[in-house]
Amino acid sequence: MADEVVEEAKMISEDEIDEAMNIFECIATRRSIRKFMDSDVPMEMLGTIIDAGRYAPSAGNAQDYRFVIIRNKDLIGKVSEACMQQLWMAQAPVLVVVCSDFEKLKMYYGIRGERFYSVQNCAATVENMLLAAHGLGLGSCWVSAFDEDALRSAIGIPGNVRPMAVLPFGFPDEVVPVPMKLSIENVCYFESYGNRVWNIDKVMINPDVFGRMSKAGTSIVEAGKTAFETYQKHKKK
Ligand SMILES: Cc1cc2nc3c(=O)[nH]c(=O)nc-3n(C[C@H](O)[C@H](O)[C@H](O)COP(=O)(O)O)c2cc1C
Repeated sequence: MADEVVEEAKMISEDEIDEAMNIFECIATRRSIRKFMDSDVPMEMLGTIIDAGRYAPSAGNAQDYRFVIIRNKDLIGKVSEACMQQLWMAQAPVLVVVCSDFEKLKMYYGIRGERFYSVQNCAATVENMLLAAHGLGLGSCWVSAFDEDALRSAIGIPGNVRPMAVLPFGFPDEVVPVPMKLSIENVCYFESYGNRVWNIDKVMINPDVFGRMSKAGTSIVEAGKTAFETYQKHKKK
């Protein structure tokens, strides 16, 4: 079964990527996956994922992200240990350590570049990669709980480079329920910080489209229809 999945995935072409799930469905249905099938991740899929990372925005287009791809089993074990013993990571056939080579950022923007933009640039890269992986049918999880020194020494990261995240990739072997997400009313303010609008559905019309899409079995088509109907109803009022 797992081998069939891999064979199918190997045949992925640019046309198939074109036909992959759209961005809204991808955002809504991505989950952190921490259990993987015992099958390798084809290099072409990994290439697509790294490419997605490379296309993320970065401050001043500095593109400080660097990717260390780890397929060696012993090294995967060492890196998982450096990640606070998160040994579930060691089942993944490949890890990608996302690092920031922040020299240029430091030169252009000083301490803000070194400490703030470098983190943000890599975060944007990581999210692109997680979404690309999910779009290709792979699972991953953003891991940033690690002992920085241990990770540095495991894979030889120099002083002018900072590890930001470790991403295990593999074919998912678990179905993860939708995690609790705060409702939009709780996280959104109008005009000044803290100014909430509680009947936000009247203001934004369709504030929980992702919630509907992310529920298992709800397709983007259904969610889109509901959104459209809500919009029509609102317009008539
Ligand atoms: C900055 C950051 C660090 C994270 N570190 C870890 C980690 O070390 N281990 C882990 O299992 N999950 C980690 N996660 C994943 C979160 O636990 C997960 O995104 C969250 O529970 C929401 O679940 P979801 O990704 O399925 O939406 C991290 C996520 C972020 C954004």
